[in-house]
Order: sequence, then C-alpha cells, then structure tokens
Amino acid sequence: MILQYAVLVCLICCTWGYHNDRPIIGVLAQETDSESKHYGDTFIPAAYFKYVEMGGARAVPIFVKKGQAYYDHIFSSINGVLFPGGGVNILTSEYAKAAQILYRSAIKANQNGDYFPLWGTCLGFQLLTALATGKDLMTEFDAENLMLPLNFSDGYKDSRLYGNLPDDVFHYLSKENVTTNYHHYGITPTDFQFSVDLTKYFRILSTNVDRNGKEFVSTIEGINYPIYGTQWHPEKPNFIWNIQDNINHGPDAIRVAQYAANFLVGEARKNGHRFDTIQEEIDALIENYSPVYHRDSTFADRYYFNYTSL
Ligand SMILES: *[C@@H]1O[C@H](CO)[C@@H](O)[C@H](O)[C@H]1NC(C)=O
Ligand SMILES: *[C@@H]1O[C@H](CO)[C@@H](O)[C@H](O)[C@H]1NC(C)=O
Ligand SMILES: *[C@@H]1O[C@H](CO)[C@@H](O)[C@H](O)[C@H]1NC(C)=O
Repeated sequence: MILQYAVLVCLICCTWGYHNDRPIIGVLAQETDSESKHYGDTFIPAAYFKYVEMGGARAVPIFVKKGQAYYDHIFSSINGVLFPGGGVNILTSEYAKAAQILYRSAIKANQNGDYFPLWGTCLGFQLLTALATGKDLMTEFDAENLMLPLNFSDGYKDSRLYGNLPDDVFHYLSKENVTTNYHHYGITPTDFQFSVDLTKYFRILSTNVDRNGKEFVSTIEGINYPIYGTQWHPEKPNFIWNIQDNINHGPDAIRVAQYAANFLVGEARKNGHRFDTIQEEIDALIENYSPVYHRDSTFADRYYFNYTSL
C-alpha cells in the first residue's frame, strides 16, 4: 500500500513536474551607456523585477563579468531567468557573455529533465536568437514606440505560451494595440526560417510589421525547452510612465501584461532549484538594493551596480 502510494506520488511529480510556490527569477544586468555610467557600471530597469513580482515570484539580480562558479551557483539557486531589454551588443557585451553561460546551463538542465525557463524581452529576444546561432541576424526596423496587436502564426494554438489563452486575452492580443514595441532592430521571418539553428530550437508564434511594412518576428517559443522570447515588452504597460511614450496603460493592455507575467512565473514554479540557506536567499534578493528614480521626463526607475563593489 505504502509502496503503491509512493509510486503514485512519483508518477504525479514526474508527470506534472515540480511544484514550487516560492519561485525566484533572476534578471540579468547589462552595461550602462556613457550617459549613465556615473550611476554604476551596469544596470537593470526596475520594471523587470516588478513584473516578475506581479506574477508571484521574487526576483534577484544576476551580475555580469563574473566567473563560471558564480553563474553555476546562481543557476542552481533560482527557478528561471529573464533577459531584459536594453541596448548592448548581443554577441560581445558582458550581458551576452553571461547570458551564454546561463543559456548553456538551461539547455543542459532541461535535457536532463530539470525544467528551467528562460525568457528574453526585446534585446533579450534578439539575444536568444544570437545564443542559438552564434550570429547577429538582426536587420533594421522602424518600430520604436509602436503599439501593435499580434499577428499569430500558424501553429500558435499548439504552443505553450499562446495555446491556452483565455478568450479575452486572445481577443486583445489579436485585435488591439496592446503589445509595446521599442526596437530599431529585429529579425525577419525569412532570416529566421533560413537559419537551421533557429528552426531547430524555436518556433515562431507571431509576427508584426513595422512602420514601413517590414515584417519582424514578434514572439518565439522553444520547441523542446521552456524558452520564450518577445520582441515586445510585456513589462511596460504596468510600470513605464514616460510621458513621451505612447504606451497603452488601459485595462486590456494590463490584462495581457499580467497574463504574460503569470505565464512566466507559472513556468518557474515547475523548477525546484533553491538557495543553500534562507540567509543566502535573503541576501540575493533585489530588495537589498536601492533603485535610482530618474525624475526627468523618462521617469525611469533603475537599479545600478558597480563591478568592484560586488
Ligand atoms: C559606482 O561608483 C561610482 C563612482 O565611484 C559612484 O558614483 C556610484 O554611486 C557607484 N554606484 C553604485 C550603485 O554603487
Ligand atoms: C500576418 O502574417 C501573415 C504571414 O506572414 C501575412 O500573410 C499576413 O499578411 C499578416 N497579416 C497582417 C495583418 O500583418
Ligand atoms: C493601433 O495603432 C496603429 C499605429 O499607431 C493605428 O494605425 C491603429 O489605428 C491602432 N489600432 C487600434 C485598434 O487602435
């Protein structure tokens, strides 16, 4: 009887995956540009932390320019990684180098049945294509400050990310200007389909066209692994209030943003990694740092870090 019960429990666990109601997601830092260098060597926009918290996770910063041991340790302590948007090089930056280590760890973990989600937003999405191919396949687009509905691609219904969309979320995503685009680079569906390394690992879930009618890939999903990329920014509607921007803050855009946050955190709950001790977990959380609120017209809210003080 006990044995039968144990077998049943194992079957449930193995089939449904780990269930972790205290997930922690790591958000990767990137180098600051010369304009904000004096605040710190690297930064992470606060919106990404708030976004994962909105989905029911806690968040930790992941630093760049660290050794393999640091990344191995943080990887084994957290339940997912978010590669945020920004403006650094997707092949040569410290952001890209750290991401490559995390990406390899995630692929290896998932191959071994250790479910570990990765999500890339905007630059992070572009980064995922570079990590999979070792190439920069980006071309130029005119899609800064552009709100769009998604053009769902064939097969999106079989995807994890969009296959079970609630009716209202599907309606908003397919008909309303609820996805926030802020990019002057992107990948065309043609360039994507020509890359064997991309089609081997990812399927396209949606496309869009920029102001000039040039088509770009707007959502991808890992075929075999829980890896997701959006060229659009699900974290912006709730948290970015720059008055020069055209961000849709209406209830439908917020609903879509919350769906995406819930989805990512839902994936992280399937992972059982944790910090060695509660103290170590507490020390890693973003709550240990203070953001800088830029009271200029950008109203950006950012965390800065220096290489030397970490
Ligand atoms: C980084 O170092 C610079 C120069 O010393 C300093 O002005 C800045 O406040 C530091 N930033 C952080 C986040 O510690
Ligand atoms: C949606 O994508 C398909 C496939 O690329 C394309 O044929 C169609 O014109 C697109 N629709 C819109 C509204 O962009
Ligand atoms: C969405 O935005 C585009 C581009 O700004 C605009 O042309 C279009 O009318 C908007 N659509 C809706 C449904 O608001």
